[in-house]
Parts: sequence; C-alpha cells; structure tokens
Amino acid sequence: METFVANAHKKGQSIGFVPTMGALHAGHISLVERAVAENDVTVVSVFVNPTQFNNPDDLATYPRDEESDFKLLAQAGISVAFAPQVDEIYPGGVENRHKKTFNLGFASSVMEGKYRPGHFQGVAEVVSRLFGIVRPTRAYFGEKDFQQIAVIRNMVETEGINVEIVPCPIKRGDDGLALSSRNALLTPAQRNVAPEIHRALAQSVQYAKDHSVKATHDTVVEQINAVPDMQVEYFEIVDGRTLLPVEEWSESPWVVGCITVYCGKVRLIDNICYKKTI
Ligand code: PAF
Repeated sequence: METFVANAHKKGQSIGFVPTMGALHAGHISLVERAVAENDVTVVSVFVNPTQFNNPDDLATYPRDEESDFKLLAQAGISVAFAPQVDEIYPGGVENRHKKTFNLGFASSVMEGKYRPGHFQGVAEVVSRLFGIVRPTRAYFGEKDFQQIAVIRNMVETEGINVEIVPCPIKRGDDGLALSSRNALLTPAQRNVAPEIHRALAQSVQYAKDHSVKATHDTVVEQINAVPDMQVEYFEIVDGRTLLPVEEWSESPWVVGCITVYCGKVRLIDNICYKKTI
C-alpha cells in the first residue's frame, strides 16, 4: 500500500480514499464511484476497526463479507483495496498500542459520543492511521454518519492533516430506509418496519413548518416508538455545524435532526435536514 501511494505521489496523481468497515452496499459504492470519478487513483480500505466498538457483542456480530466486497470494488473500478490485519494498523495488537487521545471538540461529546463512549476516539485513531498510510488527496464519507463527518473534520484540523473531506448524500432503499451494513442483521419483520424511521423524519419536515422544535421532536419520537420492536435511543435537533441543540428554528441557518433507533437489538442511525440556508 505504501509503495503504491509513494508511486502515485511521485507521478503527481491525486488519491481518492474511501475508508469502510466492509459489508459493502450501494451506499458505499456511490462514494467509491464518486472517488473514482474525481481522482487519478482510488483506494478503498476494508477494516472492521476494533477500537471504535464500545460493545464487544456489537464487534462480534458486525457483518463481514470480504469476498463480495472485493467483487463489488473490482466492478466499481478502484485501483487498490486495502484490507489490513489488526496488527498492521495497531502494531503489537490493540491492547499494547500507543493510545493517543485526540482533541475532537464538543461535536464528539454529544449524541453518538454520549451513547457510545470512546467511539469517536476509536474512529479518529483508525482514520488518522489510515490517512497516514494512504496519504489521500480527498477522503469520502457518507452523510448517514453526519456526526462522524463533523468529528473527522475536527480531527483533521487539530492534527494538521492535509486532506479534503468530501461528504456524500445518504443512499436509501426504495422504501426510504438508509442503506447500512447493519440492515443485514434485521429480521424480515424488522426490515419491514425499519423504513418508519425515515418516514417519520420526512413527514416531520412538513410538520416543522408550523410547529415548534420541541413539538417536532416529540412527534418523531412518538411515531417511531409506536412501532412494535422499535425504540428511539435519542433524537436531537441540532445546528449542522456545531451540533449544539437548537431550541428555535430561527436560531441557526442549518438545522439537522439526528436519530438513533433500536430495531430489536440492531442499532440504526439516520438524519434529516430541516433547513440549510448557508
Ligand atoms: O464509517 C465507517 O464505516 C467507519 O467509522 C470508518 C470511517 C470506516 C472508520 O472505521
């Protein structure tokens, strides 16, 4: 990987990079296709990063399918798939690694940061290590993980890493469910009801036009919690840049609702933009 990257840099080629944890779906492939279109060469990493899982069961059950991943990546026309072993990313193993603490700012302490303690430190750790190996010109991230993009932007800024972060729109199934590797873990009955997450969010955009932030929040939570087997973990309506909670629609030019829902034991995340005038 390092030799390939050194050669590309020597030739003055731009490197597009899509970091993934595998179990690839059409959402990932849309990032890959964009990277292929915008860069001279494209690298995709497939690495289930143990340090970002705060729950060992979640790591153990995370879907993996490298054979299908490599097929999809070859079809998408990438230059290199990088699928390292754990001790290539964390020499000496996860337990013995030199653990660095990143300054990720307020954005890392709320929502996912609150419910998955240590998660964003693990994301920052792996993404900074991958950036150090791949040395990309541009790196592509899906907006389903809205908060992750804000945290990675902070990491890149505080670490002084020279890479352009490119956010890419959420890909959805025909029924509106945001594509996610975790959808593979849903039972057929859960898969049937999961689109209610996006339905409730999309309907709330209309509702928000003549209701308060609090009423909009509550209607989304009620609508989703009324579905059997579904439980909202959090729904927060925040400023799209700072992720600070918004109490009035007029408070910010960019307002986003971020949600996490348990569908049985499967944790799904999604978000919706209420307003963006910047
Ligand atoms: O979004 C993901 O799949 C992961 O958090 C990432 C960015 C690949 C880091 O492991």
